[in-house]
Amino acid sequence: MDQFGTLDNLLQEERVFRPLPQLVIEANVNPQELEAHRRMAGHDPLGYWEEAADELDWFKKWDQVLDDSDAPFYKWFPGSRCNIVYNCLDRHIETYNKNKLALIWEGEPGDSRKYTYFELYREVNRVANALRSLGIGKGDRIVIYMPPLPETVISMLAAAKIGAIHSVVFAGFSAKALRQRINDAQAKLVVTADGFYRNGQIMPLKETVDEALVGACADCVDSMIVVRRCKVGVDMTDGRDFWYEDLIRNERNISPTEVMDADDPLFLMYTSGTTGQPKGIVHSHAGYMVGVHRTLNHVFDIKPTDIFWCTADPGWVTGHSAVVYGPLMAGTTTLMYEGHPNYPQADRLWNIVAKYGVTIFYTAPTMIRMLMRFGIQYTRQHDLSSLRLLGSVGEPISPEAWIWLYKNIGRNECPVLDTWWQTETGMFMISPLPISLLKPGSVTKTLPGVEADIVDRDGNPVPAGKGGLLVLKRPWPAMMTGMWNDPDRYREYWEKIPGMYFAGDVARKDEDGYFWIQGRADDVLNIAGHRIGTAEMEAAFGAHRAVHECGVIGVPDTIKGEAAKAFIVVRPEVEPDDELIKDLKRHIRNELGPVAVIKSIEFRDNLPKTRSGKIMRRVLKAEELGHEIGDLTGLEDED
Ligand code: WTA
Repeated sequence: MDQFGTLDNLLQEERVFRPLPQLVIEANVNPQELEAHRRMAGHDPLGYWEEAADELDWFKKWDQVLDDSDAPFYKWFPGSRCNIVYNCLDRHIETYNKNKLALIWEGEPGDSRKYTYFELYREVNRVANALRSLGIGKGDRIVIYMPPLPETVISMLAAAKIGAIHSVVFAGFSAKALRQRINDAQAKLVVTADGFYRNGQIMPLKETVDEALVGACADCVDSMIVVRRCKVGVDMTDGRDFWYEDLIRNERNISPTEVMDADDPLFLMYTSGTTGQPKGIVHSHAGYMVGVHRTLNHVFDIKPTDIFWCTADPGWVTGHSAVVYGPLMAGTTTLMYEGHPNYPQADRLWNIVAKYGVTIFYTAPTMIRMLMRFGIQYTRQHDLSSLRLLGSVGEPISPEAWIWLYKNIGRNECPVLDTWWQTETGMFMISPLPISLLKPGSVTKTLPGVEADIVDRDGNPVPAGKGGLLVLKRPWPAMMTGMWNDPDRYREYWEKIPGMYFAGDVARKDEDGYFWIQGRADDVLNIAGHRIGTAEMEAAFGAHRAVHECGVIGVPDTIKGEAAKAFIVVRPEVEPDDELIKDLKRHIRNELGPVAVIKSIEFRDNLPKTRSGKIMRRVLKAEELGHEIGDLTGLEDED
């Protein structure tokens, strides 16, 4: 199903799915309660969020729920003292959760590890102590360049515990992308692994960090922690590189949890924007913790017996909110898998669901499209009866993919919860609850306390059924608290459409107030649920010796949703041929990593430009897809 087929189908989709009565009876939030929450949040949104904050533990409560005196730099729960890790670990040690499984991890070769809350707590403490002994403290940045391993979670929590700021960089990123992030964050330490397993192979990782550090800013990284995953040979630099196991061997099992101010940063997550430089989205302890805790608990109806599996990599925000922080705050068991979903064959995910009795399965449409292609013979081989809820995130899900998931994985019983949110929002914003009426392909309605709308470029609401720009009209607790080193770029979110947060998406609302997300409005591609800026790709192409000029657009892709097409004008002395295409693709992989999927490259004599010399991607896109030029809601290249 290509993207545009999807859009057409979205416009026609009229099916409605009701939750089974049993599910409604057992839900943590029943329909009357949801209505009561909406009413309360409607007339007293701050009271609503205050009540949500009361469910967590604080060292000191807030003076105020929201300080909006310096908008759009909103401050949530100012005056409070807390640490999210206290709510993820420390507080569970005092309860029956102490000996409950916090984390189940399965490696690609089939090895597995399990941690109770107590065990996780103790290992986090040892790593926290090790970090302190390496001179890391409150406010220092540490980059975690890791595949999905237990140590990835442990390092994140250990960093946050001592008040350091973590920035997890997806292990698929190139040395150059890693260096850019290390430099921007001015990181003092990197945590990595010798390698990891992917599709039956060992992927080296530590050597990429070594490469990134050559030419990284001089006063950045002075130590590296290396997890021994694959036992491959790596070069260790004396005095800089330490094996994880050696470092923590003699550390104590207890470690004080740093007392943080509400808006002390918890993590940076770099994401693509419309310029070549990725943006360091900042999330802070207090607001993030409240927003994620409330929305994850309500949307996924967390029960003490759940095994929660979100397939996202920890390198993305979904991995932060829905693999690590959300599930652990909720005291549930979170599951993580290291490897490729089709290794050794296309039933691996179902094998894991059956083996551990997964109850909640949260994934991305790209994954579903891929699994659909392999057909149901793989799903049928496994007992999937433990599943009770399904979820989707990252890109629009077509009604076909939705129904496939509902029917073949969910036995026509498990609601598919399509959650709309972003790196910037930190928490789920528009999403059903298990008790909601579902329309396949719709993210349904805003969660209580969230106000969204569809507007035109001037901020006027557009009528039901018409496409427009998705905006948020009120601040929410887990909102980013800033942009690392770049307050102006933060402000831009609130200035494109004055007084509102513009999310960058095009969407519409139907007669019932249900939202239907259609895709990005700006020059950001969504490849397999991963954001990547066209400008970033163009800059990478521009660094190739053969390229004179380049324009990149997104084109539909059956599996990945979207992929990149590049239009290239070569330098006069260069003869474009198939070899050059191969070389360019290789070059992009080196520059940006495998996330930047190039579907095709077309050589042109020139590119359409504005009078000011900007390449008009909109025109290229309209030509490519046979659309009217005015069809595409582009905010970036209006001139
Ligand atoms: C898209 C991922 C349709 C959207 C949590 C958004 C979605 C971007 C959905 C954020 C959804 C996310 N339906 N599109 N349920 N969820 N998106 O920052 O374009 O990696 O702006 O955060 O993904 O991607 P990000």
